[in-house]
Amino acid sequence: METSKVYTGENAKLLLQGKEYNLPIMIGSEKEVGLDITKLRADSGAITVDSGYGNTGSCLSAITFIDGERGILQYRGYPIDELAAKSNFVEVAYLLIFGHLPTKAELDDFNFKLTHHSLIHEDMKKFFEGFPPTAHPMGILSSMVNSLSAFYPEFDYKTDLEINIARLIAKLKTIAAFSYKKSIGQPYIYPQNHLSYSGDLLNMMFAVPSEEYKINKVVEEALDLLLILHADHEQNCSTSTVRMVGSSEANLFASISAGICALWGPLHGGANQEVLEMLEHIRADGGDYKKYMNMAKDKSSGFKLMGFGHRVYKNFDPRAKILKASADKVLGQLGKSDPLLDIAKNLEEIALKDDFFIERKLYPNVDFYSGIIYRAMGIPTNMFTVMFALGRLPGWIAQWKEMRETPGTRIYRPRQIYTGATKRAHAPIDKR
Ligand code: SDX
Repeated sequence: METSKVYTGENAKLLLQGKEYNLPIMIGSEKEVGLDITKLRADSGAITVDSGYGNTGSCLSAITFIDGERGILQYRGYPIDELAAKSNFVEVAYLLIFGHLPTKAELDDFNFKLTHHSLIHEDMKKFFEGFPPTAHPMGILSSMVNSLSAFYPEFDYKTDLEINIARLIAKLKTIAAFSYKKSIGQPYIYPQNHLSYSGDLLNMMFAVPSEEYKINKVVEEALDLLLILHADHEQNCSTSTVRMVGSSEANLFASISAGICALWGPLHGGANQEVLEMLEHIRADGGDYKKYMNMAKDKSSGFKLMGFGHRVYKNFDPRAKILKASADKVLGQLGKSDPLLDIAKNLEEIALKDDFFIERKLYPNVDFYSGIIYRAMGIPTNMFTVMFALGRLPGWIAQWKEMRETPGTRIYRPRQIYTGATKRAHAPIDKR
């Protein structure tokens, strides 16, 4: 939808200190309504304030659409459940970044690039040696991604963007796998060109030089599904960070490294690790999930039901629905059962009937079931958020590219309302 077509030609009226101001009305392709306040400060001297930006649009975007009330998620207009059932991760990455589902020739070319750029410079291995074995893989990931700008310093947007996008997607899985091997003291396993993106990640994480590693197709498909479901999600915390950093024209690697840091937080991508640790804690405490539900409702407990609630979804997160079904399927196909899944289902069942959660429209989000599946695959808890970052990378890239290519994009620089001390004279130290 052309930017000019977003404006209806009508204005909302703001009456402020006796004067009336026009705020142009915008309506998006999915009928969302917005008010353009671009000229508000110049016209009235006033700004708007919106803690946490819950009511503020930072941009126009054609990449992902979420309807939080109806639990809808679409990438470039395709419903998430259709993409989950009919596409693979590389195809979805292409869709998000380039705006259309690839033809066979386009997909073959993209796969070739992702396969043939998956090695990292051998000198980068020295960085891994500098980290203590206890280093969290997310700290390693953000450092390594930022260091790619040292190995690929030239960044002419017109000529180098596509190859650097391919390098980043190809190398992030190698960096992720190497950080895992480093943490368990095993030798690095190098990328294999004949494997799929998800298959190669599993091989690099779990193969050992002394024996052949057989990729379990169930696990490969489940990992690909998890990557698809995490691929983009509008202007969430980490994506807004990538846009913020990119708006200063910092390079792609630096912008994505910042996004990885934002994702690490326990309220955002770090929640999948927190959910598993919460479920393990409940199990270790005798499995009394009702006790923890009551704690979640008691603010003074400081306990939150991790994996529940969402700034946008006030209905089921469609990704959580898909992951709940996938958890049952993967555990069944692997012939595994997991008491933590039973605890998770019991928590969900109670929450969906409890007034505290119903009034606050708190439903399971993408992080509530994903960790159960990662665990069934043998992926350690401290790698869960790394898996989230691998999935979210195409979305971050697509949003960064859209921001850089939107005419008139300005450096992100919010305002504030100052509440500190008014002007006062300096006092010499013996007079303070
Ligand atoms: C992701 O933005 C995205 O799109 C993110 C994401 C993506 O794909 O990029 O979807 C991925 O980050 C999912 C969210 C993962 N985080 C968690 O699961 C952590 C637990 N959830 C909460 O911290 C919280 O729900 C947030 C951070 C997700 C949303 O926070 P908001 O929108 O600021 O909501 P809030 O904290 O103001 O909560 C509203 C009310 C409060 O109660 P009251 O003050 O109104 O009495 O709900 C309560 C909160 O105390 N509440 C919870 C709760 N989440 C909110 N109470 C108990 N347990 C919870 N999990």
